[in-house]
Amino acid sequence: MSKNSSKWYKAHINDEYVKLANKGNWRSRAVFKLKEIDEKYNLITENSIILDLGSAPGGWSQYAAKKHKNIQITAIDLLHMESIPNVNFVQSDIEEFSENYLKKKNFDKIDLVMSDIAPNISGIESADVPAMLNLADIVVEVAINTLKESGNLLVKLFQGKGTDEYMKDMRNYFEKVRIIKPKASRSNSREIYMLATGLKSKSTIQGE
Ligand SMILES: C[S@@+](CC[C@H](N)C(=O)[O-])C[C@H]1O[C@@H](n2cnc3c(N)ncnc32)[C@H](O)[C@@H]1O
Repeated sequence: MSKNSSKWYKAHINDEYVKLANKGNWRSRAVFKLKEIDEKYNLITENSIILDLGSAPGGWSQYAAKKHKNIQITAIDLLHMESIPNVNFVQSDIEEFSENYLKKKNFDKIDLVMSDIAPNISGIESADVPAMLNLADIVVEVAINTLKESGNLLVKLFQGKGTDEYMKDMRNYFEKVRIIKPKASRSNSREIYMLATGLKSKSTIQGE
């Protein structure tokens, strides 16, 4: 193990959210980010139809499926994800999924699109931020084409060049756009979440 990876490993096993995730049998510490946001904004409600993009290893889907038994979740990831009751998993790249999924016209009843997708991080801001924005653009395309009117979008972003414009753009599509840095999100990371609530009606969006 290199010096850097052993440093990362020590920090990881001492991380309070990793300990909590292990204790609660959650698949990832990321679950605490969604939990905090959901507890404040109540995004996951009874009968919700949810798309979980970049879902593996499955913490977010696990949380949503546990919160209400009668919801429908479709989860997508490049990587394999172990099955979770009531979660329909599709192993696919988001771009490929977007092309296939969007062709099926009947998928416009989604209540919540939640995306924790992240690119492989190089540590170089000028590479990581555009890579994240590129993925976030695909996520928004999926969201706008599949969310029902007044539906909500939660998407991970990295702070950096272009992120403010991205969020400004989202105000054309959603009633309210907020930036959230959950407690479980490491303070030294560029990671933030954008919560965009209340998708505007398709006619309003097209008219803009
Ligand atoms: C931070 S993890 C998600 C953690 C998850 N929310 C949880 O609670 O377990 C980000 C995921 O995004 C996935 N990902 C990255 N790029 C992707 C792409 N182009 N298409 C689909 N999934 C992608 C990665 O494979 C990874 O599993």
